[in-house]
Amino acid sequence: MRFTDALLALLASIPNALAYPSDSAWLNEHVKRYDGFPDNLADRLGTYQPPGPNDSRGPCPMFNTLANHGLINRNGKNLNSSDIKKAVPRGFGIAEDAIETALHNFEVVCEYVNGFSCSDSANDGTFILTNLTLLGEPHAFEHDHSYSRQDYRQNWFYGGITDNIYFNSTIFQDSLNAVGYKPSNPPKKATANYQQFNEIRLQRESTQNQADFPGWFQQNIPTTLFETGFIFGATFDRDSNGTMVGSIPMVRLDWWNYWFSEESFPTNLGWVPASTEVFNQNFILSVSSAVLHASITSLPKSLPAGATATTFPGPGNLPEGDPSPTFPLFQSAPYVAPTSPGAINTKRAALADPQASFPTLPASVSSVIASEVTAKPSLIAAAVQLAGPAPPKFNLYQQSIDTVTLKNQIAAAQSYEKLVIAKITSLASA
Ligand SMILES: *[C@@H]1O[C@H](CO)[C@@H](O)[C@H](O)[C@H]1NC(C)=O
Ligand SMILES: *[C@@H]1O[C@H](CO)[C@@H](O)[C@H](O)[C@H]1NC(C)=O
Ligand SMILES: *[C@@H]1O[C@H](CO)[C@@H](O)[C@H](O)[C@H]1NC(C)=O
Ligand SMILES: *[C@@H]1O[C@H](CO)[C@@H](O)[C@H](O)[C@H]1NC(C)=O
Ligand SMILES: *[C@@H]1O[C@H](CO)[C@@H](O)[C@H](O)[C@H]1NC(C)=O
Repeated sequence: MRFTDALLALLASIPNALAYPSDSAWLNEHVKRYDGFPDNLADRLGTYQPPGPNDSRGPCPMFNTLANHGLINRNGKNLNSSDIKKAVPRGFGIAEDAIETALHNFEVVCEYVNGFSCSDSANDGTFILTNLTLLGEPHAFEHDHSYSRQDYRQNWFYGGITDNIYFNSTIFQDSLNAVGYKPSNPPKKATANYQQFNEIRLQRESTQNQADFPGWFQQNIPTTLFETGFIFGATFDRDSNGTMVGSIPMVRLDWWNYWFSEESFPTNLGWVPASTEVFNQNFILSVSSAVLHASITSLPKSLPAGATATTFPGPGNLPEGDPSPTFPLFQSAPYVAPTSPGAINTKRAALADPQASFPTLPASVSSVIASEVTAKPSLIAAAVQLAGPAPPKFNLYQQSIDTVTLKNQIAAAQSYEKLVIAKITSLASA
């Protein structure tokens, strides 16, 4: 258990102490009439149930929320793409077209990770996503510098892989700190604009660029911006009919905080889904662009090269192996994060001990190395000097690739990692 007692107490007390109307009465009064889903929000949004010990959850708060409310399979497994397509507008009020690219990319990633086609044989354009955890495969669908998750190899030197799947309150609070938002009881209503989201984004890039294992960090701005567009679409300030307040969308930080940390809809804070007619792919892309171009007043230190560039290809469809990959591209068992949702959220059920699925650490990342670099962090920089620059990082989202090239790039990244560890070992024993 890594929450402080004080924070646990605060979280536990929020639902009872809100200055907002209680769930059921409020939900029954507030209806949405314009997008073909049940008028009654309780019917529309389903009931929250925490994931159980055998349920699959992934790095994406949106999909975890849909599963927690039963709008897609509660176990997070065997997800039919048609069901996902209906669930996003139903739950979040974001139009179907906004997730078409994401769905295509799930399918491709599912194939790269499994090594076989994830489409259905009828080839009707639908497919079954094996499970949500699969989306945590590092640098496949998952990306670094998330607003709410750690990066996979940020603790590699210190003897372990890092949980890049489940919500991390420290990381998320760092994001909120970038715009000065603190949790309170009851939650304080506050908003953030495009510029503030650009500041959060750069802050997260800077932090992870410094924390990650040398050569590991991968900048993934288009994907981050697309997700930011989703956050705006899901949580822009709105009235009780779902109509935007003002003419420029502003994220309600109290809603964002509740949604990400509870993986549930913030209805008890006055939130309703937005209109599906307006909040579509064009909306998301216009937010992405506005955030990218919002000028900021001060830059965090140690930004990766290119972090402030203002032109990027939009997020596009991942290239499909042709024919579908016949081997798992990442060459290892699909990733399972080392902590369970039960450890990080009071609302979630205790999960089974996930130890059995831990990837085995290479013998070279021994406790000896961990204690050496802990005692003398400058060893890392010295080892990188000896190892030379990291090979260019493959990027599924920004390059045109064939599977053989990608496989070679992944292998080059892995050899560089081994080289850095070897240099540390020799420096430490010198
Ligand atoms: C989870 O799976 C394990 C192993 O198959 C099984 O023993 C256990 O009963 C399952 N738990 C639940 C709550 O379904
Ligand atoms: C998700 O699917 C992968 C690939 O089939 C499997 O290895 C993994 O155990 C599954 N995880 C969960 C939590 O269902
Ligand atoms: C997904 O669901 C749709 C609608 O029920 C169905 O037509 C389609 O065959 C399903 N796809 C798969 C791969 O089962
Ligand atoms: C959350 O992230 C912080 C910063 O990387 C880390 O120190 C902490 O152990 C993480 N918490 C959990 C529960 O994994
Ligand atoms: C919501 O819509 C209803 C029906 O059109 C209208 O009577 C009400 O004033 C609207 N509420 C707000 C907050 O605009």
